[in-house]
Amino acid sequence: MTIRDVATRPYADQKPGTSGLRKKVRVFQQENYAANFIQSVFDVIDGRDILVIGGDGRYFNREVIQIAIRMAAANGFARVVVGRGGILSTPAASHVIRLRKATGGLILSASHNPGGPDEDFGIKYNGTNGGPATEKVTDAIYARTKEIDRYRVVDADEIDLDTIGETHVGDMAVEVIDSVADYADLMESLFDFAAIRAMIAGGFTLSFDAMHAVTGPYATEILERRLGAAAGTVQNGVPLRDFGGHHPDPNLVHAHELYERMMGEAAPDFGAASDGDGDRNLIIGRGIFVSPSDSLAVLAANAHLAPAYSAGLAGIARSMPTSQAADRVAEALGIGLFETPTGWKFFGNLLDAGLVTICGEESAGTGSNHVREKDGVWAVLLWLNILASRKQSVAEILTEHWARFGRNYYARHDYEALPVDKADAVVGGLRDKLDRLAGIEVNGLRIASADDFSYLDQTDQSLSRHQGLRVLFDDGSRIVFRLSGTGTEGATLRVYLERYEPAGGDLGLAVGDALKPLIDAAEALAGIKVHTGRERPDVIT
Ligand code: G6P
Ligand code: ZN
Repeated sequence: MTIRDVATRPYADQKPGTSGLRKKVRVFQQENYAANFIQSVFDVIDGRDILVIGGDGRYFNREVIQIAIRMAAANGFARVVVGRGGILSTPAASHVIRLRKATGGLILSASHNPGGPDEDFGIKYNGTNGGPATEKVTDAIYARTKEIDRYRVVDADEIDLDTIGETHVGDMAVEVIDSVADYADLMESLFDFAAIRAMIAGGFTLSFDAMHAVTGPYATEILERRLGAAAGTVQNGVPLRDFGGHHPDPNLVHAHELYERMMGEAAPDFGAASDGDGDRNLIIGRGIFVSPSDSLAVLAANAHLAPAYSAGLAGIARSMPTSQAADRVAEALGIGLFETPTGWKFFGNLLDAGLVTICGEESAGTGSNHVREKDGVWAVLLWLNILASRKQSVAEILTEHWARFGRNYYARHDYEALPVDKADAVVGGLRDKLDRLAGIEVNGLRIASADDFSYLDQTDQSLSRHQGLRVLFDDGSRIVFRLSGTGTEGATLRVYLERYEPAGGDLGLAVGDALKPLIDAAEALAGIKVHTGRERPDVIT
């Protein structure tokens, strides 16, 4: 085996964001761009045992996997484990890393962003616990990308990624595994498949939109084969390199076909969708959308109905902008509630320390300690387990939940692809006056406090500052302003709006109506229209 040291020059823009390095494919296609980043990861991490590699099958996936395997061999890894066809959903990759006690893994995805030659790609490193590298590690990787002057690679023929089995590249073993089997077995060990199967056999109907992304094979195996759902339950189940030209983002805008089906006359009992790499979820009952924040709260309140969680939860974690619905559940259960910055990586330490069992984010992510990523199919199965156990509809479960805990009306308004200076003007302007806001009345609402959220991780004492501006009102309502860390074009401003209505209050309002006073208050506080010239958000979720 001949190892070559290839001279290279650093790129200045390889700073990992909320979820790894995410750029346009064309950026990744620049000379040595992917190789620089991968070498920087290898230079920073300890251990050269097993490296797991897999991606969501998007455009450029196979090319980068070929490079990564040859670089892993040159960098002294003992073994690479790769999903067949280069495919592993993000939660499945997390599971394989844990199952195989791997050094870590490279996950190739840009999640819910579109794919194709003019669209997005991404590389993320997950550590030995199966979770996204912590900020300490991603900062070190970034520092390394700024100095890198060579990468190591071996010359090898094109590696066959489509045949299950073992080959070698130099001294390193390359093991191609079934992308689905380990993950499907894990799901079967967590949930009461017999009860779900019986519910389905009894006439319960469901529809799962895989959005031509990675969950197609997973959902087909689990829902149709193992749980007996009718053929065709999984729609758009064949993963495509460009996701059929769509945004594989399971929200009401991009999964509108599913939404319309669920609101129609012949709606099935349950509808769900997942994103490009399989970590997000959308849950819709017949005639009712479940907001991700409510979904987290309902799952936490009912998780004990599934075998894996029958002993109860250690605690719940949510990202700061996620609604406080889960907080009420934690309070009722007498367990801890942790509020972290946006980004699944912040949950890893809490899960590893056993402080929490379930985590969730407003951005359609929910998961548990079974892996170290959020998990779309897992969320669907936990819902199905709960439905099978309670023998009620999604609407009944949600209504009963609000009647018990009160309702956190919630929406997120996104202003996408803003010029960076304009987005900074909104956030900077508000940040400058934050400490003068307490006690002031805006649009009839009195501000109790306002701050720039920072998070101290109690397991490793690391501090993350500037994680979003919070304005809290006397009545428990809240507005959060934050810039997205996952966009690849300009800046995206997110405004998160939340109003709490206690049990016994007005629980059946339309969300837009319930939030109207807060929407106006957000404008009065931040002057979004004035600074950006935008009349309305691009996306409301
Ligand atoms: C990814 C991350 C999530 C995060 C979401 C939104 O899906 O895995 O943890 O919540 O992006 O992040 P953003 O910075 O765009 O709001
Ligand atoms: Zn994703």
